[in-house]
Formats: sequence, C-alpha cells, structure tokens
Amino acid sequence: MELFNVYPLFDITPVKAEGCYVWDDLGNRYLDLYGGHAVISVGHSHPVYVDKINQQLQQIGFYSNSVQIPQQKQLADKLGKLSGFEDFQLFLCNSGAEANENALKLASFSTGKKKVISFKKGFHGRTSAVVSVTDNPKIIAPVNENENAIILPFNNIEQVELHLKAEEVAAVIVEGIQGIGGIHVPDPEFLERLEVFCKKYGALLILDEIQSGYGRSGKFFAFQYTHVKPDVITIAKGMGNGFPVGGVMIKPELEPWFGMLGTTFGGNYLACAASQAVLDIMESENLVKNAASVGKYLIEKLFTFDEIKEIRGKGLMIGLEFEEPIKEIRTKLLFEEKIFTGVSGTNVIRLLPPLSLTIEQADLFLDKFKKVLSEAAVKAV
Ligand SMILES: Cc1ncc(COP(=O)(O)O)c(C=O)c1O
Repeated sequence: MELFNVYPLFDITPVKAEGCYVWDDLGNRYLDLYGGHAVISVGHSHPVYVDKINQQLQQIGFYSNSVQIPQQKQLADKLGKLSGFEDFQLFLCNSGAEANENALKLASFSTGKKKVISFKKGFHGRTSAVVSVTDNPKIIAPVNENENAIILPFNNIEQVELHLKAEEVAAVIVEGIQGIGGIHVPDPEFLERLEVFCKKYGALLILDEIQSGYGRSGKFFAFQYTHVKPDVITIAKGMGNGFPVGGVMIKPELEPWFGMLGTTFGGNYLACAASQAVLDIMESENLVKNAASVGKYLIEKLFTFDEIKEIRGKGLMIGLEFEEPIKEIRTKLLFEEKIFTGVSGTNVIRLLPPLSLTIEQADLFLDKFKKVLSEAAVKAV
C-alpha cells in the first residue's frame, strides 16, 4: 500500500535524537530549531521521559475511561500547580484539533449558542468546527463549511464587540501567540478587552495555547504576559514532548455532565506518564525560565542582523520576516549547515526549538545563520 501523499518531505531520515540534536541514517547531526513543529519541549529522548513511559508500559499500557486512572488526577494536579490554574478542571484528549473541538463544543453546550469568533491568520486545527474557524480556505472542505464561523481582523477589539453585540456568539477563540500565521503576538490590551466583552455578552473566551503554551513563550502560557483569565485553555504539542496528547483546561464554574465530552484514548496511562514526565523535567530543569532567557538572548542578537525585516515573538517562539522568500536560506540552513527551522508562508522563518536550548547552541545557530545570510546576500548582488 502507498502512503497517502499529503506532505512534501525533505529527503532526510532521522534515526536518533537527544536534547536539541537529531541524527539521520547517514550519521549527520542536526541542530533542531524546529522541535518537530513546536512539539519537543523538554528535549528529545530525555532519560526521565523515556524511563517514565517505559516503566508505565511494563505495568499497564491501556484501559478505557471506565475505570479509575489515578495518573490522570496526578497529571491534573501537577499541571494546575505549574500553570497557576489549580482551580481549573482538565479534560484529556489526543491532539490539538481535538482539544479545540471539545472546547468549542463545551462553549456551545454551556451557552446554548452556535457562533464562534476567531481571527485572521489564526490556526486551530483541521477537523470539523475548528477548521471552519481557521483562516485558511484551502483546508476547509465543503463538509466543514458552516455559517457559525466569524473570522475577524486580529487585534481589532471594536469589530469583536460589534459582532458579540449583534450575534449569538458561544465563544471567542484566540491563540496566545499566533503560530502558523507567522508568530503574531496579540496586543495585551486586545486580550484583556476580549475577556471583558466575552463576560459582558455571555460568550466563553478560549485561549488556544497549543503552540504557544507549555513554557514556549517564556511563561507557562503566552497569555500570562497579560492579566487575562480565560474561561477555557487548550493544550497539546509540548504537553507530551512527542507523545500524542491534548487537553482542555476548564474554569470551575463550568459543570460537566456524564457524556458531555468523551474519547477512547484520551488520558491513557502512557499519555499521562509522558505528560507527567514533561512537567517534572520542566520543573526540575527550570525550562520556562530557560526559554525566557535564551529566547531573549537570541532575539537581541537577531536584532543586529540587518537582513531581517521584522522580528516577532517571545521566549523560544520566534518569527523572522524577510523582504524576499526564505526558501533558499532555509534549504541552506538545513542541508549545508544541518539546522532545522520552520516556516510560515513564503517570507517568515519560525524558530521553535526545545525549551532546553543552551546559549552555546543559540550561538552556533547565530554563526551559521550569519554565514548563510551573507552568502545569500553575495548572490543577490
Ligand atoms: C495553535 C494551534 N492550534 C491547534 C493546532 C492543531 O493541533 P494538532 O495538529 O495536534 O491537531 C495547532 C497545530 O499546529 C496549532 O498550532
């Protein structure tokens, strides 16, 4: 059987990974500033993470959500403590799209309303309701189209209020920092007004922290740079460091009922073990702080590069916008300098390394990046 060919692939076959490095089958070592798309939080194959999953697998690998699984509550307690949301409730699922799908469902159940406000350049996943509120017509199939999505300009609070006033809105969903759209940080005042208007008009505020959460921004959640307290927070990616897991964090006032949400695999023993190990490592190695300080260092150094048109982001979630397409720069970085980076559109490079990135590794990238940029500039002359 052939694989369904939906991904353009690099001709690289990783076979081993450790910390911020990945090795291919030819023995080449790559510095990973992409983190497998913002997923690797505590570093590849961290021994504590590997041990915890191994040990769990040797005890019990799976049972359904019809029995006591104390690991779920242990995870919820630890997450509540480290994120500062101890009074919230946790629903566990398997991916980012599923987390947002459940968040929208919850908002619709609890408000009895249908419409959802989201924002231009936003991304919330590829399934049913969440793809309909994602600002990319190319990934919305006819079956996903619906009249409930209201996609508004980012950072424009007046537009949001107009629609909240005029329509039956269940939820406003916004990324803590827009990731796929090119690393756009919301104005703190915009987020804070969103909270006020959601309360006023009876909609839930959902913060999608799937990419920007779990320490990536240099705070546990990116919105914690503001005073916002969302009604619902969605998480995935860095939560499992590669193990597929997602979650919906829900304010205490929202009451569950049996059957309201559900999943076969969500909250399984292995996902809980992986997620608990991630939090243990983040705490013991102070990774949120590391992301803040190494990210600050990188951003400051990058500001001295004249070739870059705009630098956006916080912590280790950094977007570098160029005047020209970046394809050649990224290809050279990958194949000649052995550094993985991400992209957004044609002109933005995205840096999303493991949160354990060191200053030495940041310097290594800066040196190689300077070299690649100067070669590209020489060619352009
Ligand atoms: C902000 C955001 N939300 C949701 C998703 C969807 O997550 P998943 O691919 O796990 O479904 C992504 C994935 O990139 C994302 O960046």
